[in-house]
Amino acid sequence: MGAGITQVVAQSGMPVTLIDRDSEILKRSISRIENQLSRAVDRNRMTRDEADVALSVIDTDTSIDAASEVNLVIEAVPEQFELKANIFRQLDGICGSTTILASNTSSISVTRLGSQTNRPELVVGLHFFNPVPRMELVEVVVGGRSGDVVVDTVQEFARSLGKTPILVQDFPGFVSNRVLIPMINEAIFCYHESVAGVEEIDTVMKLGMNHPMGPLELADMIGLDVCLDILEVLHSELGDPKYRACPLLKQMVAGGKLGQKSGEGFYSYED
Ligand SMILES: NC(=O)c1ccc[n+]([C@@H]2O[C@H](COP(=O)([O-])OP(=O)(O)OC[C@H]3O[C@@H](n4cnc5c(N)ncnc54)[C@H](O)[C@@H]3O)[C@@H](O)[C@H]2O)c1
Repeated sequence: MGAGITQVVAQSGMPVTLIDRDSEILKRSISRIENQLSRAVDRNRMTRDEADVALSVIDTDTSIDAASEVNLVIEAVPEQFELKANIFRQLDGICGSTTILASNTSSISVTRLGSQTNRPELVVGLHFFNPVPRMELVEVVVGGRSGDVVVDTVQEFARSLGKTPILVQDFPGFVSNRVLIPMINEAIFCYHESVAGVEEIDTVMKLGMNHPMGPLELADMIGLDVCLDILEVLHSELGDPKYRACPLLKQMVAGGKLGQKSGEGFYSYED
């Protein structure tokens, strides 16, 4: 998600730094962005010059200190509260007093993340969708203490990227994942209980409900670990057993079957 967000910000002409603790991931991310931009040039969606300008405004770094002089930080580390909380505490210490701290979290409370800082009024959710360059929606999550001016500013930022911001309040899963992830979990239960095979379940949802992708295919694209993390947040925060993760999902994640990113999930991606 970090690479996708970096790409759309760069395409809008704004300088952007992609930070990851792993330098190999940074290298892979940049080459993925280069490939995506080259494909866009081949398909006449942008000129070679525009692609070169976008690449030229991207910087990379392995240290969080690279965020110390920016106006806006968008955190996109894995969906675990303690990990994100730690990043927010560090950012609060190193960033200027007016820097907006946004999270791309799919389900974690933005209000709780804001409480890790001394600037809760400058903390919001900016929830992009995967793949970021193609998906038009950004859920703007209004935390319990997010300031009105900050909420307006990040909506304007999202529009400047060509996205459509929709305001949602800070409840677990917001709107998108409160609806989507239980549907994916139910599809996994259907497979687990042998109601139908993987392709059959996906085909039912594509041909019967007009979904562009089946839920199991989509789960592989999101990452099965991410789906499980979100379900666990919904389950623990809302306390309703209907959000209980399917045991098969837990077993697949424990076994390293994470979907597209690991090469295997409900489908195989060896190529
Ligand atoms: N995958 C999706 O479809 C999707 C969609 C919308 C939102 N999100 C949200 O975006 C966030 C990231 O998801 P993802 O799928 O990109 O996860 P990912 O696991 O693919 O990427 C997370 C990256 O964070 C890096 N990282 C971990 N700890 C770090 C640290 N301390 N400092 C710097 N970098 C660190 C990892 O090296 C990794 O490259 C999560 O909150 C997720 O819920 C994901």
